[in-house]
Amino acid sequence: MKHRKTKIVSTGSYIPETIISNLDLEKMVDTSDEWISTRTGIKKRHIAHEKEAASDLAYQASIKALKKAGISAKELDMIIVTTITPDMLFPATACVLQHMLGAKKIPAFDVEAACSGFIYGVSIASQFISNGTYETILVVASETLSKITDWEDRNTCVIFADGAGAGVLRPSEDESGIISIYLGADGEGADIVGVPAGGSRMPASIKTVEERQHYMKMKGNELFKRAVKVMVEAADKAIKEAGLTYKDIDFFIPHQANIRIIQAVAKRMSIPMDKVYVNLQECGNMSAASIAVALDQAIEEGKVKKGDKILFSCFGGGLTWGSMLIKW
Ligand code: COA
Repeated sequence: MKHRKTKIVSTGSYIPETIISNLDLEKMVDTSDEWISTRTGIKKRHIAHEKEAASDLAYQASIKALKKAGISAKELDMIIVTTITPDMLFPATACVLQHMLGAKKIPAFDVEAACSGFIYGVSIASQFISNGTYETILVVASETLSKITDWEDRNTCVIFADGAGAGVLRPSEDESGIISIYLGADGEGADIVGVPAGGSRMPASIKTVEERQHYMKMKGNELFKRAVKVMVEAADKAIKEAGLTYKDIDFFIPHQANIRIIQAVAKRMSIPMDKVYVNLQECGNMSAASIAVALDQAIEEGKVKKGDKILFSCFGGGLTWGSMLIKW
């Protein structure tokens, strides 16, 4: 069987226009700009329009990525959307997106790995390219977390945000591309963050709505403790598999959950903060979209140069985690 190196050939991102600042939140719940800034690093977050769904954000990010790749949607062989805020329970948001983009009748499906979604999606896509099944795959991480956020719950509403990031994957024609990927999960922590109702365990009813069970619940402190550990462990695996050390890393793009988590992770890896991409002050935590948007922004800002070794590390609900090392 063929084994081909896979490459993210282009990226695109879309952030909704509406901004909710920490000062806005002060008027909504018992919190302060000072608390949010020092505890999370977040200053503002972008929120989708009432009528905007995950597929709308995904579409905007996708057309930018396709344009940068210089290809039309007709050339795609597969579409993977990663999201915890799909347009609806089913059909898959990826199918909705396939139609919006005018792609051919190619396979389209969603991957649900919470904040680790983009790395999971890229990992799956890279298998199909690596083994020669497909040539061109679109992976889009799109989140409208504002729709499942309880705007009366200060534990969660200060953190989450909306956005989408897309990547076009193809076989690499040079030395650049994915060097290593590592994925992990631990369902023992499934109750740490999630939306309790609306699935088969607790179907939607008037009672579940009244009890606000369709909104995200989170044990923030428990997540925090596990996040630092698993993000470092995941990154260690990708680095080791590549036969490299953290000194070889030119740029680190972590999941954007909390600045204190990012700083603690970078410190344990001895990666200086000037090599770490941070956008959560502007964008909050966009779950699966965080890393995808951050990669696109870093490229657009000229922070990523050809040949750079870029490390990614993430964790999220599930619990899930993962890491990826690429040569740009
Ligand atoms: N404004 C003011 N006070 C707040 C607050 C807010 N928005 N949210 C919580 N508090 C209070 C708590 O009620 C608690 O008060 P108490 O001591 O009187 O009970 C106090 O602040 C400390 O709460 P704690 O949860 O221990 O704070 P923390 O330092 O752990 O920070 C998070 C909270 C959520 C910012 C932090 O735990 C975090 O970022 N966790 C990871 C979350 C995450 O990554 N989620 C996404 C999964 S991918």
